[in-house]
Amino acid sequence: MTLSNHDIRIFPDIQLLTHSAAEKTVRLASQAIDSKGLCTIALAGGATPRGLYSLLATPAFRDQLIWGRLKIFWGDERHVPPDHPDSNFRMAHEALLSKVPIPASNIFRIPGELPDALLAADHYESLLHHEFQSSPSEPPCFDLIFLGMGSDGHTASLFPGTAAVHENTKLVAAPWVEKFQSFRITLTPRVLNYAAHVVFFVSGAEKADTLRSVLEGPHQPDMLPSQVIKPDPGDVSWFVDQAAGSQLTSP
Ligand code: 6PG
Repeated sequence: MTLSNHDIRIFPDIQLLTHSAAEKTVRLASQAIDSKGLCTIALAGGATPRGLYSLLATPAFRDQLIWGRLKIFWGDERHVPPDHPDSNFRMAHEALLSKVPIPASNIFRIPGELPDALLAADHYESLLHHEFQSSPSEPPCFDLIFLGMGSDGHTASLFPGTAAVHENTKLVAAPWVEKFQSFRITLTPRVLNYAAHVVFFVSGAEKADTLRSVLEGPHQPDMLPSQVIKPDPGDVSWFVDQAAGSQLTSP
């Protein structure tokens, strides 16, 4: 099903989803590198994208990318040090970044170890402005942003009922997340919706009802923050496995 600049692709299983996502990643990254010599990617955390990162680290995909031309960022991070089991940086480093020839200077993690999450957010915002030579009026334009979706409809660390869902001035926010009793650091819709390409990865039956609500239900981003992701002029693709897409009405 294709809605305006939405593209929803449903795969029989997570393995086929992951393989297709890896092919799309190589294609988009190569296009960006061919056109401007560089590709900027913001990685998602959580469990679903780990398989993609591992696949990109295999020779079949690793050898198709010019890693020195890739700059890696994160869409969000937990308020933990980079070696913490919950760290999104640690997950991506273990699955991908430690296995490919990417210069350490091309990896820009969110400093989740800083005691003050708000300060971490400010640091990352300054880093983004520097790396993208962006300005308050012209936010960073990522070539590719990976996102997941929680069964509560959150994406990145934009959780239901948090002000960060509607943040359209700052690039990076540090919301308190009640359900985890902790802060998170996250890119805001200001940046997420300025990306050239956004790719969601959604897997698992436990997300089927939420995914239908997000894609086919009324617009209520306070309850379903994933609905706030509407890149313009960029595009958004939903890579969904059959289990998560089982409640969608039209293929
Ligand atoms: C995080 C992620 C988060 C994740 C969703 C889905 O820091 O946890 O950025 O937004 O993408 O919670 O997570 P799963 O892929 O593990 O279901």
